[in-house]
Amino acid sequence: MYNNSRFYKDIDNNFTLKIDDKPFKILQLTDLHFGFSMITKKQDKLAMDAINKIIEKTCPDLIILTGDSIFPFVIKSGTRNNIKQAKKLIEFMDSFRIPYAYLFGNHDVEMGSKGNKDDISDIIINGKYSIFDKGLEELTGVGNYIIKLINNNDKLINTLVILDSNMYREGWFYSGFDCIHEDQTSWCMQELSELKKQNSDLTALAFFHMPLPEYKEAYEKMKLGDRSVQYNFGSISEYNDYFGITKYQCDFFEKALDNDIIKGMFCGHDHLNTLSLTYKGIMMTYGMSIDFLGYKRIKKRYTQRGGTLITIKQDGVFDVAPIPLATVVSSFVRGQK
Ligand SMILES: [Fe+2]
Ligand SMILES: [Fe+2]
Repeated sequence: MYNNSRFYKDIDNNFTLKIDDKPFKILQLTDLHFGFSMITKKQDKLAMDAINKIIEKTCPDLIILTGDSIFPFVIKSGTRNNIKQAKKLIEFMDSFRIPYAYLFGNHDVEMGSKGNKDDISDIIINGKYSIFDKGLEELTGVGNYIIKLINNNDKLINTLVILDSNMYREGWFYSGFDCIHEDQTSWCMQELSELKKQNSDLTALAFFHMPLPEYKEAYEKMKLGDRSVQYNFGSISEYNDYFGITKYQCDFFEKALDNDIIKGMFCGHDHLNTLSLTYKGIMMTYGMSIDFLGYKRIKKRYTQRGGTLITIKQDGVFDVAPIPLATVVSSFVRGQK
């Protein structure tokens, strides 16, 4: 676990990170898909080089890995050993000497993989620069936690909510993607309402792996010319405008609207989607992905590859910018004039 005098765990189980007077930079990296096996050396090297470049370019204060960091999918990576992969991941991430937060995607503990979420969590927690907590045991998922950002005057200026969006509802790939469950949502909103008592202008940003159904809803509305949706940047480049969303009921977005504290949401999962829209006052962003191994012929695709930089100012206001690895980034969005 990250050990620093400006970082600690509170009695309420949330983390606190004291930030400097300058704008605080968070780099979202997603879908690294590290194989860390004999047959994935080439792809792993490419992914590492890409991450190196993005970190060098952005010099973040905190990195947030939003899922599918490791890929124990035997058909692609030739291994089920996610224990070894997690150890390699923290070794790599620790080399930057920048704190990093981790959350689970749907592949990190892929079906048939050696370690479960508890095993992987125990490894991640051991990272010298890692920020991670398993979260309350009674909650669905592993790794639901909160990082409070306070300034030098101990004022709470922003809150980062890290959530496990779970994997497959019935336990296997073809049963369809799961989502953030109701109990996680109510825990999150309750915590935020409590924190808002310290700062009535509090804003929060939520990080999870799989997009919410509202990502698609907003995109569809934008295509129809609905002016309530604001286009920020990026594109939907998955085949047939695909969104890897759940078909089950998910109330996270609706509850976030009621709660009125979360103003930004960041996910990964659909590697070719990089779209950022603001819908009903909430900015919803697909992080640029790293993947060199998961998708077919992904090595040759480049407009989706990169990171996402979130800059939080002292007044809590945040700004989001895509950081493409290549100099070219697609801004093509079907339906946009
Ligand atoms: Fe992925
Ligand atoms: Fe995924």
